[in-house]
Amino acid sequence: MTLYGIGLGPGQADLVTVRGKEVLESVDVVYSPGRLSRTVALNHVPESKIGDLDFPMTRDEEKLRAAWKEAAAEIAPQASDNDAAFVTLGDPNVYSTFGHLRRTLDAFHPDVDVEIVPGVSAMTAFATAFDVEIEAGAGLALREAANGHAPTGPDRMILFKITDAPATHEKLVAAGYDVTYGRRLYMEQGETVITDDPADIDERDYYTLAYAVKRDLDIEPATARFEELGDATGVGERA
Ligand SMILES: C[S@@+](CC[C@H](N)C(=O)[O-])C[C@H]1O[C@@H](n2cnc3c(N)ncnc32)[C@H](O)[C@@H]1O
Repeated sequence: MTLYGIGLGPGQADLVTVRGKEVLESVDVVYSPGRLSRTVALNHVPESKIGDLDFPMTRDEEKLRAAWKEAAAEIAPQASDNDAAFVTLGDPNVYSTFGHLRRTLDAFHPDVDVEIVPGVSAMTAFATAFDVEIEAGAGLALREAANGHAPTGPDRMILFKITDAPATHEKLVAAGYDVTYGRRLYMEQGETVITDDPADIDERDYYTLAYAVKRDLDIEPATARFEELGDATGVGERA
């Protein structure tokens, strides 16, 4: 039998993929690492299917290892007798708790088969939420920027775990970036905020990311000239 790692997408129930929904409906038990992912899963499965797991809110690596061992010990027998799922927000392979579980299962329960169902990651959903295009050929780096940190270097960055937007902002602007912030994008719970002003999001909320783009980037895709050409030929005036 199989343990499915299912990516639920950013948080709205209808952004779960068709495959994710089908697998959720087919398994016997669904484990969730947190309240939000559990709420999304509950749109697709009854509460009676939700398994019991307890994760401590700590950064203490020893406590975390113990919690993952305990979670793996709970899940492994379920996944040997029946199909089971472990859900995460976004994609299970992008900055996700599922990675810890998979490594712990590999170490202590290598007989458990694992399959992953990808989900819509915040890493790509931000582009639509911000109405920006990462055009073909452009580079986009993923970084973490918790506690006021501000990594720099790449032309465009998506920054996860923004917990002190004003401090991060000051450093990014000084390093020559324009920055847009997104909080709770495509989430049902809490307020969605998209802003260029870090003061709008100075209260800490874990579900906050930033898109930073170098101010002096000079991008002109071939199609950018359509507007000019349209004016010249009148095409731009049609309907
Ligand atoms: C541990 S990572 C999980 C990423 C997730 N696996 C994914 O693929 O989207 C958590 C970080 O992702 C970002 N994030 C995840 N979902 C988000 C959302 N709906 N809106 C804004 N940021 C989000 C935040 O920066 C948050 O601190």
